[in-house]
Amino acid sequence: MDTPGMVQPSAGHQIEDGIEALLTDQNEGLAGDVRDPYPELAHQRRQAPVMRVDLRAQLGMSTDAELPPMPDVYTVLTHDLVQRVLRDPETFSSAVYEDTMGLVMGKTILQLDPPNHRGHRNLVAQAFRPKMLERWGPAAIGETVNELIDTFADRGHADLVREFTFPFPIKVISRILGLPEEDWLRFFRLSVELISLTVDFERAVKASEALKGYFQELIDMRRAEPREDLISELVQAELDGRKLTDDEIYPFLRLLLPAGAETTFRSTGNLLYGLLTNPDQLHAVREDRALIPRAIEEAIRWEPPLLFIQRRATRDVELDGVEIPAGSNIALGMGAANRDPDRWTDPDVFDIHRSPQQHMSFADGPHMCLGMHLSRLETRIALNALFDRLPNLRLDPDAEDVHIHGFMFRSPMSLPVLFDN
Ligand code: HEM
Repeated sequence: MDTPGMVQPSAGHQIEDGIEALLTDQNEGLAGDVRDPYPELAHQRRQAPVMRVDLRAQLGMSTDAELPPMPDVYTVLTHDLVQRVLRDPETFSSAVYEDTMGLVMGKTILQLDPPNHRGHRNLVAQAFRPKMLERWGPAAIGETVNELIDTFADRGHADLVREFTFPFPIKVISRILGLPEEDWLRFFRLSVELISLTVDFERAVKASEALKGYFQELIDMRRAEPREDLISELVQAELDGRKLTDDEIYPFLRLLLPAGAETTFRSTGNLLYGLLTNPDQLHAVREDRALIPRAIEEAIRWEPPLLFIQRRATRDVELDGVEIPAGSNIALGMGAANRDPDRWTDPDVFDIHRSPQQHMSFADGPHMCLGMHLSRLETRIALNALFDRLPNLRLDPDAEDVHIHGFMFRSPMSLPVLFDN
């Protein structure tokens, strides 16, 4: 499709630059090269599961330093308390995202509270129901995975982050949305620019505008002539006589990039890291593919791609004995909740054989991740294909210092692997 908003990129290296920026600056810009935040989170959880954050201390300022007016921030770090907050949207509102993501993304489902959230969610959920996933999921995902593996399968070595986990979910989303193939490169670049909003805010705002124009054209085209894709599903979805408006559809499509692509690229990297650094577990899953769903779930529990989500108190409320004033922001520590020793034995250990229990990585309550089944399906197909096509897959023993890093977002920067070919 040759659309005005979609000028072709001049060179593929722009994408490489975007990947580099996203993988390095985003993590470092937010909180330094944090390797393992979990000991500190465990310490805080033991001291005070609910705690007011001293922003001056966090920013390294003296106690009498002037700060611009900003809401109090409280952290919540145990499984049960995080769950309780997420299940009470009347007291703990998602409108907090208006001041952050909303500035770039516009009004998305993520920041809606009941009762508005429900109608919107019921409509978009139609496009994500299991029947739909079965229809377009496996083909779109399988083709993407195999195309990516084709690019390095004969080589005997690869960096699975740059060459596989990073491009994989954006390509899947392009296919699922039904984007014409000639637009993919530009879409990929705009996606990277949009999700690296902490690296370059202005650039992210421009990318967001360009995506709006692009999606609007596609929405018009699918309304006129529906096809078998997600955009067609969204324009046709109807419940109790209500349909989604364009002003609801394009922010939703844009949200799929940070919500669906960034999370899945990081979670797939974390799973591969967990397996590659535990060769006995890698061997077990490879030999018994029925273990794959457990391995996926355990990796998402152990190293969630996103460590914190937010809410805002709509009234004065007491949580675990702590008085939280109305208007305070709440940082919900999903990573800390997932390693709560009251719920998991040896929570810091990656163990695919542990009994599955619900974790907090996909959240809970009305905003519980809409794409979790898609994400699991993507990862399952990816892992099966890597096992089928890369015999004796293993971490490159000469690779230096491979590790997961980041504070807000966590994943490995690279995964250098060897395999037989
Ligand atoms: C491992 C991968 C994923 C993780 C860890 C994850 C995590 C989350 C979390 C924590 C939320 C709730 C945020 C909040 O309430 O503050 C959420 C919501 C959401 N996720 Fe995911 N997600 C993943 C994959 C996906 C995928 C693949 C898609 C779609 C392509 C997706 C689409 C969404 C949407 C649309 C919402 C908003 C739902 C609502 O507000 O009602 N996610 N996700």
